[in-house]
Amino acid sequence: MKTLASLLTATALTATSAQAVDLEVTHWWTSGGEAAAVAEFAKAFTEGTDNTWVDGAIAGGGGTARPVMISRITGGDPMGATQFNHGQQALELVEAGLMLDLTDVAEAEGWKDLVNPSSLLDSCTVDGRIYCVPVNIHSPQWIWLSNGAYEKVGLPVPTNWDEFVASGPALREAGIVPLAMGNQAWQSNLAFDAMAVAIAGPDAWVDVVSNKNVELARGDVYAKVFQAAADARSLREGSNVQDWNQATNMVITGEAGGQIMGDWAQGEFAVAEKVAGEDYTCLPGLGVNEVISTGGDAFYFPKNDDPAIEAAQKELASVMMSKAVQVAFNLKKGSLPVRGDVDLSAANDCMKKGLAILAAGNILPGLDQSLSPDAVGQIEDLMTEFWASESITAEDAQSRYADIIESAG
Ligand code: BGC
Repeated sequence: MKTLASLLTATALTATSAQAVDLEVTHWWTSGGEAAAVAEFAKAFTEGTDNTWVDGAIAGGGGTARPVMISRITGGDPMGATQFNHGQQALELVEAGLMLDLTDVAEAEGWKDLVNPSSLLDSCTVDGRIYCVPVNIHSPQWIWLSNGAYEKVGLPVPTNWDEFVASGPALREAGIVPLAMGNQAWQSNLAFDAMAVAIAGPDAWVDVVSNKNVELARGDVYAKVFQAAADARSLREGSNVQDWNQATNMVITGEAGGQIMGDWAQGEFAVAEKVAGEDYTCLPGLGVNEVISTGGDAFYFPKNDDPAIEAAQKELASVMMSKAVQVAFNLKKGSLPVRGDVDLSAANDCMKKGLAILAAGNILPGLDQSLSPDAVGQIEDLMTEFWASESITAEDAQSRYADIIESAG
């Protein structure tokens, strides 16, 4: 016969396991490096709590994934947690009351004192309440170069954008595509934006995207950026790939000289067992201005009536912010952690460059922190057209760009 004590224990156990939740987490991390990184979150959540991570990867990049995520949340079929970029992408959902308030977790764990830079937590904050957990700092302003391609043509690896442009003809002659670029709107815009920071300079860039300085966007400084981008169009000819990681792969194999891409590209080099400084070279700020922007990824937790789900959501938020998980995830992701009190001795050369720039405070806001999703979308459409066809002149593109900035302001 069971004793009362053992019955009570059994009941307690049943009660605990009844609370265990299968939590679906959506994100757009489907490349090799991204999958390796997100597996660290899944492992920590499933092994470290009673709950189970149910992976809801959506292929095709953020531009494809975000509309799916948003329509599930607004359509009454919310997932347990979902990725968005830092900034305004989820603002309307928060304002509509659809996201769980995480302020109690954030206060209990002292996120305000931990998260660096504080702009990351500000991006999660609406009317004084915290609605997301920032998980990383990603900067898009990098160029990734194939040391092997330069060895093949007998040129030193470029140290900045101008040297890269100058190396284009030699690469082309050797059958190497100078600039790998995937054919998706966000990638076209990322390349333009990184060039704007390098050529117009970080202050001008902030003035245009954050302060909506239309005169600057219409003026000579930005004319130089558009001209440089128009010139760079020919460098990407022959880059017939769609996804960003396919373009990164062209750099890994030496089929291409370089790619302008965010520091998540590091994850692909790592999976391919390539060594920074030996097999490839990374230049933050395209080697012109050593800056990074502090965009990246944050997780939001759509509201749910079930208290067990809510408890699991808060546990996941806490796991994502924890020291060990910040290190394990970010080392694989190629991003910087959101807290400064973690041990990053295992960082590679590129990540060390990023950390030094962050420590020096040479940081910019992310594009999604500066402009609404609607304005970003309009610029992405323009950039898709501009990079794809020589028929849009630098002047036309500049004037359309300035119009978008003007209406965003
Ligand atoms: C995200 C990165 C991701 C990249 C490519 C960006 O929007 O911030 O985490 O690796 O998209 O998928």
